[in-house]
Amino acid sequence: MADRVFVFDTTLRDGEQSPGVRLSMPQKLEIGRALVKLGVDIIEAGFPISSPGDFEAVNTLAKELKGVQICGLTRAREKDIDVAGEALKPAEHPRIHTGLGVSDNHLQYKLKMTREQALETGVNAVRHAKKYTDNIEYFMEDSGRADPDYVYRVVEAVIAAGATTINVPDTTGYTYPGEYRRLIEGIIENVPNSDKAVFSCHCHNDLGMATANTLAGVLGGARQVEVTINGIGERAGNTALEEVVTAFQIRRDLFGVETHIDLSLLIEMSRMVAGLTGMMVQRNKAVVGANAFAHSSGIHQDGVLKERSTYEIIAPEMVGALKSEIVLTARSGRHGLRHRLAEMGFSFPEERFEELYDKFLQVADTKTEVLEDDLRELVTA
Ligand code: KIV
Ligand code: ZN
Repeated sequence: MADRVFVFDTTLRDGEQSPGVRLSMPQKLEIGRALVKLGVDIIEAGFPISSPGDFEAVNTLAKELKGVQICGLTRAREKDIDVAGEALKPAEHPRIHTGLGVSDNHLQYKLKMTREQALETGVNAVRHAKKYTDNIEYFMEDSGRADPDYVYRVVEAVIAAGATTINVPDTTGYTYPGEYRRLIEGIIENVPNSDKAVFSCHCHNDLGMATANTLAGVLGGARQVEVTINGIGERAGNTALEEVVTAFQIRRDLFGVETHIDLSLLIEMSRMVAGLTGMMVQRNKAVVGANAFAHSSGIHQDGVLKERSTYEIIAPEMVGALKSEIVLTARSGRHGLRHRLAEMGFSFPEERFEELYDKFLQVADTKTEVLEDDLRELVTA
């Protein structure tokens, strides 16, 4: 049987931290409901102490959403944890996500603490969070640039204090997949009580590696992925939910894991989040981009029309797209044109078709795409 990977969605927390994004309470609830329908396991709904709006978001989603864990982020401070505990009170399954930095960079410049002080602060935060719930996730900010031996010590201590999920964030998007995988493997191998916790990948996309690193982390033994819809998030963003869960499905041979995500809702979910956040999805974005199932060159169109799998590894309907699309451009061939005309109900004898094809190429040279209206004009001229 395939191993279960838990999907932790942080669209409403890390995703909402994207510059230029501001969601209203009803919009957050709409996204929250859609995430439950999609099948995520944990929703990080906000950072309760950061603003009254974030408190309300965590509190409202905790009240309204059932059958899902609701998580609130905190710094490793008692006051933060108390406010998160209060916001999460109505939740069926509350989770507190607390922690602090582990890299020397963060310790020296941001936290101004020694390693020992930071370790003690983290352990105390976990003990304090236990007043509210046993479901405690501990994040080690900037793990990707930290000394692994120190990371091992922190992991052992916070698990002993009661953390049940350990988040290993590559906060700055610094690592490459082999390195991130070894980081996760190293923790699992070297920490004596590592069997008492689930390890989580939280990767940022500064070098375009977020999805690759998350998948590498899963190969290394992590069993939770922290993701956002469309990969939105701080700076270059987070790992895209749709990319990770589709990779698990398409490459089951490699990963051997499963999630509870309903893949057929991915495109609908992506469009909803793009619409509400105003963060538009690039056309060539994997899985959910407008071009993800569109074929424009003659060679590719010919292949796909003969057999879809020649150029498509994902069946469009699997992720909620209507069908593969044959887009007519100056690079399209006869096969593509004939197919689009047939879709419109036209069929022509060979000689007439050749005439139309010549005219089509003339039009195509003047436009980025030949649309249905252009074809109608062509055939009626
Ligand atoms: O990127 C990061 O390290 C985070 C933590 C707060 C989990 O978002
Ligand atoms: Zn983050």
